[in-house]
Amino acid sequence: MEHESIKLLESYGVPVAEAELASGVDEAVVLARKIGYPVVLKVVSPDISHKSDVGGVKIGVDSDDSVRSAFSEIISNASKRAPGSRIVGVLVQKMAPSGGVEVIIGGLRDRAFGSVVMFGLGGVFVEVLRDVSFRVAPISEEEAYEMLGELKGSIVLNGYRGIPSVDKLSLVKIILKVAEILDENPEIDSLDLNPVMSYTSGALVVDARIVLRSVG
Ligand SMILES: Nc1ncnc2c1ncn2[C@@H]1O[C@H](COP(=O)(O)OP(=O)(O)OP(=O)(O)O)[C@@H](O)[C@H]1O
Ligand SMILES: [Mg+2]
Repeated sequence: MEHESIKLLESYGVPVAEAELASGVDEAVVLARKIGYPVVLKVVSPDISHKSDVGGVKIGVDSDDSVRSAFSEIISNASKRAPGSRIVGVLVQKMAPSGGVEVIIGGLRDRAFGSVVMFGLGGVFVEVLRDVSFRVAPISEEEAYEMLGELKGSIVLNGYRGIPSVDKLSLVKIILKVAEILDENPEIDSLDLNPVMSYTSGALVVDARIVLRSVG
């Protein structure tokens, strides 16, 4: 689940948005105050992998009252749109700054190629245009930079019309970490960091999914 995936990424030094799991609404308010407004609330369930599809994500939550209403809306949406799913709690996460470019970084184990790392731009670029690049691990820093440059939409990363380039090194570092995590953890089948917010300076993972496999 997302809160567990985030912990693993943190332990590898990957920059992730601060987040904690709340099991009740009062705890969610306490955590939101501690993390600092604005926050994002997300349903956490082993049975729900696409949280927004079931109305399980509320962004820009900026007060105690909004936490309370977002919390109950999320729970009622999830029980209506994903009936029978086990709800572990609600993740309270720091809202990432606006103005970033959303990218996707993924990793998977391919039966023929072994560990493979994927990079793509978020949203319509990946879903409609399938504009992604792949490399087989192990990968060098140079190869990771090449993955950024290969996208048809790479202009979005390079900057255009006065918009500055994103911090490519911070993305390269995350790509290399994904390869390292796959290499060191045979029980991981795939990782999906979607999205990673990419800024002029730095990058931040705001959603992560890790799929396990049984290791014999
Ligand atoms: N901490 C955050 N700060 C800013 N925006 C966020 C944050 N978390 C999520 N978002 C926005 O909300 C969208 C949906 O959130 P998230 O990716 O966690 O849900 P999801 O439905 O599980 O995604 P998917 O199944 O498509 O990977 C993100 O793509 C991003 O645009
Ligand atoms: Mg996501």
